[in-house]
Amino acid sequence: MNEEAPAAAARLDAARRAVDLVQAGMVLGLGSGATASAVVREIGRRLAVGRLSDVVGVPTSNATRDLAHEVGIPLTDLMANPRIDLTIDGADEVSPAGDLLKGLGGALLREKIVALSSLRLVIVVDETKLVRCLGERKPLPVEVVPFGWSTHLDFLRGLGADPAIRMRSGEAAPFVTDNGHYILDARFRDGIDDPHALADALARRPGVVETGLFLGVRAEVLVGRG
Ligand code: A5P
Repeated sequence: MNEEAPAAAARLDAARRAVDLVQAGMVLGLGSGATASAVVREIGRRLAVGRLSDVVGVPTSNATRDLAHEVGIPLTDLMANPRIDLTIDGADEVSPAGDLLKGLGGALLREKIVALSSLRLVIVVDETKLVRCLGERKPLPVEVVPFGWSTHLDFLRGLGADPAIRMRSGEAAPFVTDNGHYILDARFRDGIDDPHALADALARRPGVVETGLFLGVRAEVLVGRG
């Protein structure tokens, strides 16, 4: 049996509930990843049948932009609409304090910019994403500029991580983000002891663009149950 199926069904259920929060006239932040794609499809479906109208979306990745086009969601950007009413996104891990680890899909930078521009951030997950401590199941994605990327490996090791550059699926070339950067996936054997200290250390390092630590973002977390 496919073990992912119940989790996917749970996320779909929560995605639909999240879309119930969308109202006419809203500027929406459109997240990235499988869960956020379910949200985008549901918004498109409701627009198509007239159950929803007059919304515009700010996509957090090129993939989401393309999907939004496909399902008929009008798009805008942060220059035209610097304030987003509601962003719905997924996450890779959620801590008991509501902090998030994101970016396994590679869209963390735009996701964080959009999240911080949002009046309301709703994160849709299933129970498998709820953790005691961030980094206990998933590696922390760290987005870096390509120049000198390998110099960060030892730095990350010094912070207690086991880092690896993310590769394109099935290819011998690094994965490149929508912003032209690389991603180092930093695995912490026992989870991240002090996420704030880690985020600060990485923010001070030249060449590090952003990390998947979304701390203090005051997200409302919707947990789908199978
Ligand atoms: C994309 O970069 C990520 O931050 C996603 O939000 C996260 O990986 C969750 O994705 P899934 O919904 O596909 O699990």
